[in-house]
Amino acid sequence: MSTAKLILDGQEFELPVVVGSEGEVGIDITSLRSKTGAISLDPGYGNTGACRSSITYIDGEKGILRYRGYPIEELVNSSLSFVDVSYLLIYGEMPDAQQKAEFSYLMTRNSTIHEGMKNFFDHYPPGTHPMAILSAMMASMSGYYPTEDDEGNIVRILAKAKTIAAYAYKKSIGEPFMYPVPKNSYAANILYMMFAHPREEYEVPEVLEKALRMLLILHGDHEQNCSTSTVRMVGSSGTNLFASISAAIMALWGPLHGGANQQVIEMLEHIRDNGGDYREYVDKAKDKDDPFRLMGFGHRVYKNFDPRAQILKKQCDDVLDYLGIQDPLLDIAKHLEDVALHDSYFIEKKLYPNVDFYSGIIYKALGIPTDMFTVMFALGRMPGWLAHFREMKHDHDTRINRPRQIYIGAGERHVSEDLAG
Ligand code: SDX
Repeated sequence: MSTAKLILDGQEFELPVVVGSEGEVGIDITSLRSKTGAISLDPGYGNTGACRSSITYIDGEKGILRYRGYPIEELVNSSLSFVDVSYLLIYGEMPDAQQKAEFSYLMTRNSTIHEGMKNFFDHYPPGTHPMAILSAMMASMSGYYPTEDDEGNIVRILAKAKTIAAYAYKKSIGEPFMYPVPKNSYAANILYMMFAHPREEYEVPEVLEKALRMLLILHGDHEQNCSTSTVRMVGSSGTNLFASISAAIMALWGPLHGGANQQVIEMLEHIRDNGGDYREYVDKAKDKDDPFRLMGFGHRVYKNFDPRAQILKKQCDDVLDYLGIQDPLLDIAKHLEDVALHDSYFIEKKLYPNVDFYSGIIYKALGIPTDMFTVMFALGRMPGWLAHFREMKHDHDTRINRPRQIYIGAGERHVSEDLAG
């Protein structure tokens, strides 16, 4: 299969075809306009490949997700840390002992923010969403570090993002900032910096550390999703890494994207507080005249099941059982899933639980407040964003992203004529 034929106005054109390492077929339309005078049209880019990438492979029909070829299930169930998986995503291979030691040192050494940045937190209005703070602080880091030092800034951003997130939470509850502790893992330091207090001993419970490590790895990367495409779009202009990651955080905040995990819990709490009639919400989601959507359901790529949701659903039971928590929201979520998966509307539209449907149940069990759920998603996705920025910068095909359009507005008209009328 080397070419695709296109017939336009009776004229036949041949376009080259590219085939990916997993057999994915793409029609290369880089010469479409010069050959045919026509462009493609694909609102939302559901049928459009933006680039070649070696980082993550998803098969939406088979529910496959692999980071650099490794199945997500194996990575989650391994002894690898989130920092190990981050290294794999960013640099393409598992770190050897020396690389692991060097990267771990750099992550620890860079885990605090410039002391001058701590004052920034005093000036956000109370109640500012932590995603806005994380994005603003990310862009502000360009004022402290050399913007052209991509390799150094990859480590700085990965190491400091969790500290910014924890400080935003501490500021919101009026408690002192806690510095990260070198002996702690990435996940443990998030929980330590959020929940420790200078006036009491605090050891991060291992079960909570393990649950958060799993959540971070599950969110590590997901090919060309909205926020990752934002990194590539913004970065393609030649701007710096801080700006590109700051923009990605803003894209992830959207309720149709990473913001869904907060929406799911708020939806489940609303169902709980209003009599627990989850069928009413399934009916609302099916009603064309009702804008309500079953948050945490559906996916542009997964048309069978999201493997991350399957892992999370099981983890919910394990974490809640271990903590002795009976959370009615989990029961409501399971009932919602069961009703939806047997309903013709969801079956026909191939709507299944996605990564956001169960993640909030675990974040809640870890004691993380709802408005920090999407921040946790951002921390997990950070290595993926960094990996795609780095891959884009090394890709000789990269050029500034500038899509075209089909114009459907007014034809030429003249101010003098209109003013005269
Ligand atoms: C993430 O891309 C990624 O990889 C994202 C992500 C990642 O790791 O980066 O996986 C993370 O963002 C997961 C998605 C989280 N968002 C939500 O849970 C919000 C609820 N889901 C939907 O809004 C929707 O399913 C999307 C946004 C996830 C996908 O949107 P699409 O692919 O544009 O699908 P669509 O909106 O065109 O829907 C197709 C049909 C529509 O009905 P018709 O107009 O054809 O009659 O399905 C319906 C939709 O109304 N539909 C839903 C629905 N999702 C789609 N109906 C009710 N409830 C839903 N959740």
